[in-house]
Amino acid sequence: MVDALGLGLGAGIVLLVVLLHFSRGTEWTPTEDISNELLERRASTVPETDFPEPMNRSIGGGGVAAGAVAAGSEGELEEGEDEAEEATDDPSAIPDDEAETYEIEFVKEGTTIEVKENTTVLEAGEEEGWDLPYACREGQCISCAGHITSGGHSEDYIKHHTNEMLGDAEMSDGYTLTCVAYPVSDFSIETGESP
Ligand code: FES
Repeated sequence: MVDALGLGLGAGIVLLVVLLHFSRGTEWTPTEDISNELLERRASTVPETDFPEPMNRSIGGGGVAAGAVAAGSEGELEEGEDEAEEATDDPSAIPDDEAETYEIEFVKEGTTIEVKENTTVLEAGEEEGWDLPYACREGQCISCAGHITSGGHSEDYIKHHTNEMLGDAEMSDGYTLTCVAYPVSDFSIETGESP
């Protein structure tokens, strides 16, 4: 009796599995994968940048690491070149025994001093003990500005190593940023004067 029941159950299960296997199932089909389309659409909304493809277009992981390495190595090269260029362009790198000396009249202080071409106007004044105005000392503000009163463009008399504030019009009027101004000629200057 038990054997017949077990046999019947077993046969029933086998029949059910066979039926399920051969049945047509539902008409359901998986939803179309639109993830790529979405990514493309989102990528098209990302503004163009100077970064090389595909880094500026990549969304998520993947190519970012490779792109970052490529961009990094390129950046280092450019940086190295820039540094080399900057070093040859930096008057403060001129050795003392090779530097020319010029006479600068500090009008407000009532004194004329000799300043080497590797020394800024600000440093030269500070070495005299004068309390001259400054803030960033990198050509990025206007706190140290002075007015060269010898006439003409300030860069006829000094070389700005970095100048991120004064435009050509202001320099044409004789203004200079003393913290980054290295003399290339004799001149007179009024310190604490901004355009
Ligand atoms: S101190 Fe800022 S530009 Fe000279």
